[in-house]
Amino acid sequence: MTAQIIDGKAFAAKVRAKVAEHVARLKEVHHITPGLAVVLVGEDPASEVYVRNKGKQTVEVGMKSFEHKLDADTSQADLLALIDRLNADPAVHGILVQLPLPGHLNEDLVINAIDPAKDVDGFHISNVGLLGTGQKAMVPCTPLGCLMMLRDHLGALSGLNAVVVGRSNIVGKPMANLLLRDSCTVTIAHSRTKDIDTLCRTADILVAAVGRPEMVTGDWIKPGATVIDVGINRIDAPEKGPGKTRLVGDVAFDSAAQVAGAITPVPGGVGPMTIACLLANTVTACCRAHGLAEPEGLTA
Ligand code: GUN
Repeated sequence: MTAQIIDGKAFAAKVRAKVAEHVARLKEVHHITPGLAVVLVGEDPASEVYVRNKGKQTVEVGMKSFEHKLDADTSQADLLALIDRLNADPAVHGILVQLPLPGHLNEDLVINAIDPAKDVDGFHISNVGLLGTGQKAMVPCTPLGCLMMLRDHLGALSGLNAVVVGRSNIVGKPMANLLLRDSCTVTIAHSRTKDIDTLCRTADILVAAVGRPEMVTGDWIKPGATVIDVGINRIDAPEKGPGKTRLVGDVAFDSAAQVAGAITPVPGGVGPMTIACLLANTVTACCRAHGLAEPEGLTA
């Protein structure tokens, strides 16, 4: 069997188009422009690229982008003061503080200082609790993107066996909660899980989010399963020349694609969906702030 490829790049373009449509309507009918503030502390090159992409795509869908670049030695008090100002600013509907933060800053404290209604990352403890108890929450972008692709590919997920490999707060745990909310039978596997390959072979839906290059191989996969690869790992690629690298997922694509029914590639799978869902969350936050109907198909 050769798996169907789930094209995250094309899907993300559709999500962005829906967001743009909704933004245009908000502007035209309600004279409201959704705004997203992104805060970057320090000069991590990967974070800078990521933040630039976020800003560019925010503007492309018609929203306002506010970028705040702070020095690496910014104090906790100054960062919290900026978050207070953004919380109070009516032009800002979403706030994202790029992680990781420099070591002297307390990430939990900073994230929990964001107004939960503007927490478009879904990392605030209130949103974590709301999602965990099945209430209306802001949902973390990467798992939201995975859920959208799963629903699009499979339709109703009810009753399916889902295994999530990885227990991070950003992906693994919220992904498991979202799948549970869609009535899957969910297991979270991690580095201490016994017979992890046997467990994964029970999965109709397998989500790999561990950050270990090509850990999940074809023999871990149930024939016909839907495989979502969240990993983005840069590895050496001597075959491309000295010093060259390439991106791979947490799933060994070639062997997995022989067995799975459908699979997301890396790159071009989950990756593009993350920023698309950030834009979707910003529109959702804006609509909620103004008591307006939420965009359909852009929330969990
Ligand atoms: N760093 C890498 N991915 C993310 C993300 O989704 N949100 C934030 N805030 N920081 C990140």
